[in-house]
Amino acid sequence: MTTSTEIRILTTPQELFSAAADEVIHAATESVAARGRFTLALSGGSTPKSLFNLLATNARTTLPWDKMFFFWGDERHVPPTDPDSNYRMADEAMLSKIPVKPENIFRIAAENPDAAAAADAYEKTLQKFFALEPGQLPRFDLILLGMGPDGHTASLFPGSAGLQEHSRLVIANWVEKFKTHRLSFTYPVLNAAARIAFLVGGTNKAPTLHEVLESDAPGDQYPAKLVHPTNGKLIWLLDRAAASQLTSAV
Ligand code: 6PG
Repeated sequence: MTTSTEIRILTTPQELFSAAADEVIHAATESVAARGRFTLALSGGSTPKSLFNLLATNARTTLPWDKMFFFWGDERHVPPTDPDSNYRMADEAMLSKIPVKPENIFRIAAENPDAAAAADAYEKTLQKFFALEPGQLPRFDLILLGMGPDGHTASLFPGSAGLQEHSRLVIANWVEKFKTHRLSFTYPVLNAAARIAFLVGGTNKAPTLHEVLESDAPGDQYPAKLVHPTNGKLIWLLDRAAASQLTSAV
């Protein structure tokens, strides 16, 4: 079991997204060469949009789209047409612009008013796609993650019940500050990945990044802190603004 952690600081947001695109292309090439397919879990929020745009343009001819399988690490409890939908963002920025087979796209059916049922359904989707035995975890080739200013990642928020979930693959996690559920991968799924790439930009994330990467603050206060692949590679891709309070960046 080997885990490597790398922190890469890029000068500008453009360089950040270009480095992230290279990471996706590298992981896709290696995975398809080794296993004939590339399983990728997308993050949501605003940061990855520029990466998705870049992949759909500059990497349009480079990536093995027909061998790529798309999943989401988390989703808001809204229909796919909603402006808050992570699926909608990825579809508009990338999926609608690339030659990917619709059957290779596994979105979370978050339009289901019953969030727990939506989580169950997605867990079954993972179990079926990865042909999992009971208790077995899916091993994604690459999981993209972001981090909120509060230290949350995927939809694992500080103080939320989802932080304690160690047997389910997907949960409907109640987020008190938003008074809503979010659908989210759990830590076991995140930490079973072959590669995890965090994409974090902007000054507003700098204090939290220092806490996550350089302090001994507890993980349930900064959930991104507890993401460590048990047998894989963890890479933090940061722009200089986000890294501005890291002593290692000085
Ligand atoms: C979501 C995300 C979430 C996101 C962070 C950072 O659904 O919101 O998956 O974990 O990565 O909130 O969001 P920004 O990129 O918008 O800062």
